[in-house]
Amino acid sequence: MDVLKAIQWRRSVRKFSQQKIEYEKILQLLEAARLAPSSSNQQAWHFVVIDDKAIIEEIPKQVLIGTRSIISFVKDAPLVIAGCYAKKLSHVAARLFGHENDIIDIAIAMTHIVLAATELGIGTCYIGWFNVKKLKNLLHIPREYNIALLLALGYPIDASTDEGIGGIAPRSRKELEKIVSHNKFGQRF
Ligand SMILES: Cc1cc2nc3c(=O)[nH]c(=O)nc-3n(C[C@H](O)[C@H](O)[C@H](O)COP(=O)(O)O)c2cc1C
Repeated sequence: MDVLKAIQWRRSVRKFSQQKIEYEKILQLLEAARLAPSSSNQQAWHFVVIDDKAIIEEIPKQVLIGTRSIISFVKDAPLVIAGCYAKKLSHVAARLFGHENDIIDIAIAMTHIVLAATELGIGTCYIGWFNVKKLKNLLHIPREYNIALLLALGYPIDASTDEGIGGIAPRSRKELEKIVSHNKFGQRF
């Protein structure tokens, strides 16, 4: 499978089988993250690999709306990876350049994991809805790090098809002409 195929085939998978992801495959995913590019090659990231069911079940409890969690499906993921970045460097970049490269770096690295997982038939879903403070406590993240993104991973419970991993139909995307400009914003490409 090539990268373009993985990009087309990937879906957000939210229904996972309880089959564990093999240790060798987890290592392959982490290696894909390790090889990701980063601003000035800083690699100011840290990946917390969570396979402890008790901890995974705690995660959705951190983001309750009323009594219901908006990410309740995470409790059934056999694996969650928390993508963290060093806050200090990020603040320096923000001061110097007006944007936070370290958050970009960790997002790229997490996408390496997502695409590698897709090739291996492993479903993924990015999770952005979480309470950073509560999750930092739960995962014992040091003060100098922040959590940018969580990734829920597992083999999809439903069979994959040509349409998508886990048999999931693609969600709609805006047309190119609505999101692309030529040379200057707003000029038709
Ligand atoms: C940064 C980011 C945060 C996301 N957070 C959540 C989340 O908290 N819960 C969830 O169910 N999906 C989350 N998603 C998944 C998006 O809803 C999903 O990617 C989008 O609807 C497009 O669907 P697709 O991934 O199947 O193509 C997130 C995606 C990204 C990129």
